[in-house]
Amino acid sequence: MEYKNIVVAGGGVLGSQIAFQTAYSGYNTTIWLRSEGSIGRTEPKVARLKQIYLNTLEAMKTDPRAYAYGLMAKEDVTPEACEAAKAKVEAAYAKLKLTTDWDEAFNDADFVIESVAEAPDAKAAFYTELQKHTPEKTVIVTNSSTMLPSQFRDFTDRPEKYLALHFANEIWKNPTAEVMKHDGTGEKYFEDTVAFAASIRMIPLKVLKEQPGYLLNSMLVPFLDAAEALAANGVGSVEDIDRAWTISTGAPAGPFRILDIVGLTTAYNICLMDPRSKDPSTTKGKVCAMLKEKIDRGETGVNAGKGFYDYA
Ligand SMILES: NC(=O)c1ccc[n+]([C@@H]2O[C@H](COP(=O)([O-])OP(=O)(O)OC[C@H]3O[C@@H](n4cnc5c(N)ncnc54)[C@H](O)[C@@H]3O)[C@@H](O)[C@H]2O)c1
Repeated sequence: MEYKNIVVAGGGVLGSQIAFQTAYSGYNTTIWLRSEGSIGRTEPKVARLKQIYLNTLEAMKTDPRAYAYGLMAKEDVTPEACEAAKAKVEAAYAKLKLTTDWDEAFNDADFVIESVAEAPDAKAAFYTELQKHTPEKTVIVTNSSTMLPSQFRDFTDRPEKYLALHFANEIWKNPTAEVMKHDGTGEKYFEDTVAFAASIRMIPLKVLKEQPGYLLNSMLVPFLDAAEALAANGVGSVEDIDRAWTISTGAPAGPFRILDIVGLTTAYNICLMDPRSKDPSTTKGKVCAMLKEKIDRGETGVNAGKGFYDYA
């Protein structure tokens, strides 16, 4: 794996984070955006990330709880190292390029990370145009949370060099990178992507066959579903359901604390996707009603200061 030029397509919540972490790790990094308007929306996101990285490094000098894996190895943390890393943050910010020009972005790209909106048509249209602008060497990955690479491989001219690389939100401190192939992905490109993920201080997790939800969400979604069903059916209180989990497994958070972090609006939207949610007498219908009641009160989770728990 000898990548130098990395292009992130899309500068939304995740695209901006992936690009900033990649630039911080020393790669020539470009964010490709489809319009001048998107550039205007992405610039403040990148500026905010710069500030988060600087603040985190400053806090890490004295507070071990501030440690973020993506910034440096734990054993390397010293006040001097944090100061030196702040210079890296400034350099990354200064060097990070934003463009709407396809050729400028992709003509010499070694690795393209597609992080455009989670809409199949948008992604298909992006890949169709992309193949006109990428050299043979370019490996392409998708950060899609819910779609599979096999859905899009035929929109690229290189299915063997196409796979998924899925990040978690707030990647500097939640450093999982799920690398998932489809059945036509070349082994070399799979391993190169694993190596690339490690090189930007992510922890690569290999997903050896296509799986909707990758590793994490394949476990997390049914787990949260089960907890919501217990509460909505009145089997146990939110607190006791969480305690059943944390006390017996030693996990730091139970399902309802996790739901508060995910955000109740996301949980509600997922619930609504189930057709059974339309019938209020079903478990799904009761779960949706439970979530909606809280959302209507503005209790949407940690970000709102209140969800199932109070964070004020
Ligand atoms: N938000 C998360 O927590 C999260 C976590 C992991 C993966 N993802 C995945 O990352 C991808 C992006 O998600 P996000 O949360 O950053 O979304 P977002 O809505 O914040 O950003 C989407 C980006 O795509 C651009 N875009 C929209 N339509 C486009 C089109 N037709 N052509 C080109 N660009 C277009 C937007 O301008 C924006 O820059 C999705 O595939 C999502 O599943 C998101």
